[in-house]
Amino acid sequence: MTSLRGLDRLELFHKRTILRCDLNVPIKDGAITDDGRIRASLPTIRYLLEKGSSVVIIAHMGRPKGEPKPEFSLEPVANRLGHLLGTTVIFSKEIVGDSAASLVSTLQPGQILLLENIRYDARETSKDEKERMELATILATYGENYVSDGFGAVHRKHASVYDLPKLLPHAAGLLIQREVEVLQKLTINPERPYGVVLGGAKVSDKLAVIENLLPKVDLLAIGGGMVFTFLAAQGYGTGTSLLEADMVGKVKEIIADARARNVELLLPSDIVVAPEFSADATPI
Ligand code: 3PG
Repeated sequence: MTSLRGLDRLELFHKRTILRCDLNVPIKDGAITDDGRIRASLPTIRYLLEKGSSVVIIAHMGRPKGEPKPEFSLEPVANRLGHLLGTTVIFSKEIVGDSAASLVSTLQPGQILLLENIRYDARETSKDEKERMELATILATYGENYVSDGFGAVHRKHASVYDLPKLLPHAAGLLIQREVEVLQKLTINPERPYGVVLGGAKVSDKLAVIENLLPKVDLLAIGGGMVFTFLAAQGYGTGTSLLEADMVGKVKEIIADARARNVELLLPSDIVVAPEFSADATPI
């Protein structure tokens, strides 16, 4: 079993802690339509506050490609987070610069600050290690500890996820701890029959998971947007549905591997077809 370095390994009392969360929630017309990821971040935030720390949260929203785009702002998230915690969450419109540094430096124990979408800075997602480290070095001045709790983004080789923790005492947050425990239970000696339901939009992101699970499961049920890449790999037309065309070859290999291993691969048999992707589209 892998054991992670937990929050008890950090000195938190009267320290500033940088917390990397995944607050990438769906927003429609400025309103958050599902705050599940914000709620999932609450236990670690509360823990840090109870231990007498102040918290600087770093998170991303969508893929703004290194420049500020209002539709990807985290400001609505700051408001929702404050509402859920029953406190004010200070929002920094700047990620780096004098105003961000000054907001951070005045934080008192028990206070929370959320930085604007870290992906507004192109260095966050840069492939160039030096560029990422340049941003990470600035971010490291915002705290004395680093806590990783953004489960949905923890696999990304990004400045605030991969480079920043190298510069500070670091630990895994409560969400990451829980997710890893569940994953370990599901991958080491699981009970049989063992079926896994896997959803999500991107096969590319789930590839390692699927390859890891295929030797272990009896049944793999695929749902979500990635269904269409599986259907395309079986020769079906997918219209304008979400498709990762460059993954079709890989998915054909997965299908063949599942067959060879006697794993039942289950895809949805009923799909509603509509002329456009919208909530009020009329099904054909
Ligand atoms: C997600 O929504 O899958 C996570 O927030 C990671 O986002 P990303 O796929 O844009 O890195």
